[in-house]
Amino acid sequence: MRDLEQQKGLQSIIDDIYRELTPRLGEGRVADYIPQLARVDARHFGMAVVTTGGELYRAGDAEVPFSIQSISKVFTLTLALGKHGENIWSRVGREPSGSAFNSIVQLEHEGGKPRNPFINAGAIRISDLILAGHTPKELIGEIVRFVRYLADDENIVIDHEVARSEAATGYRNIALANFMRSFGCLDHPVEHVLGVYFHHCALAMTCSQLARSGLFLAAGGTNPLTGHSVVSRQRARRINALMLTCGHYDGSGDFAYRVGLPGKSGVGGGIMAVAPGKASIAVWSPGLNDYGNSLLGSLALEMLAARTGWSVF
Ligand code: DON
Repeated sequence: MRDLEQQKGLQSIIDDIYRELTPRLGEGRVADYIPQLARVDARHFGMAVVTTGGELYRAGDAEVPFSIQSISKVFTLTLALGKHGENIWSRVGREPSGSAFNSIVQLEHEGGKPRNPFINAGAIRISDLILAGHTPKELIGEIVRFVRYLADDENIVIDHEVARSEAATGYRNIALANFMRSFGCLDHPVEHVLGVYFHHCALAMTCSQLARSGLFLAAGGTNPLTGHSVVSRQRARRINALMLTCGHYDGSGDFAYRVGLPGKSGVGGGIMAVAPGKASIAVWSPGLNDYGNSLLGSLALEMLAARTGWSVF
């Protein structure tokens, strides 16, 4: 009976959030620097919560796939830690940048070593590290298989139109990769590394799939739905620490202050958040705030954290 009451409680919290935010749908600025993303209807809103007990709660467009963009950097970081362990930290830092996600400024003063694995430069370096021993095509396949395994869903695919659109207009990322290569901080050809990066950013997932794929981080490294042991408890804690400090770029402090959960945003308007020991959450609303993070998505998570008491602080 208590469980049933709790379940009803969570569903009604999510329903309330959706209802309260409905008049504001369409607020924020849809990312337009990747032409294919600019075409998305700004009025979408979806939310999914999967508890560590395995219950799924949804509202709005929770089953509509969207471009997860930078959220994919959590999955490639997890793969990089699996392949190279703590050695990655000699190549990528783990400090907040205080700069925009696509900033180049720190690289020059810091010898081409990116501040953290979630800014674009850092994620490009992570793609480079996990390319070792693979062709780009093989690695892209491995990333897709890994995300399907995490979400326990074979229907997750890459939106190749989005990948092509970003490759055709990704002048900043091309500059970042070449700049790092000029410091000797990229082991593979720029085109190979960016091929991997653009494709993992173009993964299309629903809020439900995304919430399930983050569940291992909420549950000490093991997905309680599948029993798959993904990472150790210590590693899950460390990935969450990076999401909390760096997951929203120069908006990470604001997100920690308002929401108090580890989270990772993407310019497609998605956010994946982790309530350790409690649940994994995904929200999607394409309109972005000034930091390039989902405006209503951040607000929805702020409301959820306040009403559930799930803040880690
Ligand atoms: O590299 C880019 O610009 C995009 N593929 C990803 C950026 C992104 O999602 C930043 N997050 N807010």
